[in-house]
Amino acid sequence: MDNPFREFLVSRSSPEPCSVVIFGATGDLTHRKLIPALYNLAKEGDLPPGSRVIGVARREKSDGEFREELREMNRKVSRQGHDEVLWERFAAGISYHRSEFNDPEGYRSLAERLGKLDASGPGRPNRLFYLASAPEFFPVILDQLRESGLHEAVEGGWTRAVVEKPFGTDLVTAQRLNGVANATFPERDTYRIDHYLGKETAQNIMVIRFANAIYEPLWNSRYIDHVQITCSETLGMEGGRGGYYDTAGALRDMVQNHLLQLLSLIAMEPPADLTADGIRDEKVKVIKSLRRYPDARTVAENVVRAQYRAGTILGQNVRGYLEEDRIHPRSMTEPYVALKINIDNWRWEGVPFYMRMGKRLAKKVTEISIHFREPPGVLFNRLPVTARKNVLVLRIQPDEGMSLRMLSKMPGPSIRMEPVKMDFQYSTSFGKPSPEAYERLLLDAMAGDATLFARRDEVEHAWRFIDDIEHAWHRSNSPPPMAHYEAGTWGPEEADNLLSRDGRVWRRL
Ligand code: BG6
Repeated sequence: MDNPFREFLVSRSSPEPCSVVIFGATGDLTHRKLIPALYNLAKEGDLPPGSRVIGVARREKSDGEFREELREMNRKVSRQGHDEVLWERFAAGISYHRSEFNDPEGYRSLAERLGKLDASGPGRPNRLFYLASAPEFFPVILDQLRESGLHEAVEGGWTRAVVEKPFGTDLVTAQRLNGVANATFPERDTYRIDHYLGKETAQNIMVIRFANAIYEPLWNSRYIDHVQITCSETLGMEGGRGGYYDTAGALRDMVQNHLLQLLSLIAMEPPADLTADGIRDEKVKVIKSLRRYPDARTVAENVVRAQYRAGTILGQNVRGYLEEDRIHPRSMTEPYVALKINIDNWRWEGVPFYMRMGKRLAKKVTEISIHFREPPGVLFNRLPVTARKNVLVLRIQPDEGMSLRMLSKMPGPSIRMEPVKMDFQYSTSFGKPSPEAYERLLLDAMAGDATLFARRDEVEHAWRFIDDIEHAWHRSNSPPPMAHYEAGTWGPEEADNLLSRDGRVWRRL
């Protein structure tokens, strides 16, 4: 039989060398994620030789100083360790370009610099502009790229733009940003990054579902009782994040993008093919089918927002949200949110998707659990058992893998049942650690594969869903209340009630 992933495998051309131009080069993302990802690609031999990095930012700095800062961080965070010899070779291709983001002169000199690099480099004039600055500069940079002519592909090469999150703060701002992006780059060259899609285990969802015979026939409301998606973090507002976070909150920061992406991979129909648009067409249908919350009352019934109070995490005392640095002392922003979501389509009619995510919770873990309906209770229903439902767990991180809970007879002369687990772990089955999401995504953008990037309509439909909730919280006359939880716990009681009301409980992690 034909390999169903053949098209996927062959559609991915190997990337050619290119210039990666990073706007926001002195920021945390560049230091912690982008440069280490490029370094690891180089270490694995996946970075096309001759590729180079030009960091653009406003501070005065020499190439040498810039490389030195990057080296320090790479030493601390590189997944593969830091090899001085390799670093020297890799860093020789890194340079720094000082410019204000709105200064046409800075773009003119950048164009000149790129022109020289292209002329001396081995390949074609390929350019990947990566917008990793503060989000308010995204439209400014896009406008300047257009006005300077840098957005146009140079003969024989390609030009693409990667735009970081947050992609807008609501539907209107996202539409506006999309307008500017699409006036500058065609949609096929616009890569809206969502690093959750680059996680190995998120990519595995489609393979598990569609490359195995045993799951898909059960993957519907007839057999599935409900689905839970949990993304809990122990981190709070370290590293000066509070300033951004207090304007965003959990719903905008994580649900609009990462968690709705995971939900759409779990809930989508099999795509017609494995092309970027084939897959994104199906994901967007799921997002369009999310049942909206039309008013503050429905929001109050289905969504819990909460802030943490002081508590203890891993033996350390931590402050409450309102006492964190750069958080307004009377802030109404939520570092925690739990939702009950319904998908109004044939497959999922009546199957709730419960989602929770929060900062300063007991443990860092992201997982999706599929809770199956109970079997007909005719044979074993009198036997006591601690849990009756089959549960399939997809562990996104850490400890990536999958497990299936089922009932088994305990050894012995009488029939006694106990839930047991079948377990698959990436680390033991494949014997090597998964690459970082940014490695995969940078490579895909260089190769021109947009499958793991969000399309314009996906982002906009996700904002429609989120905007109803934000509106009820911040603009209605009777806003739903803010709940509270102690840092280091599993969240507020109100989130437990969201499930207990339906006769269900959150999985204990
Ligand atoms: C980012 C959010 O997109 O994802 C952060 O802005 C969050 O608030 C982070 O901490 C989580 O990513 P990961 O890969 O650690 O789960």
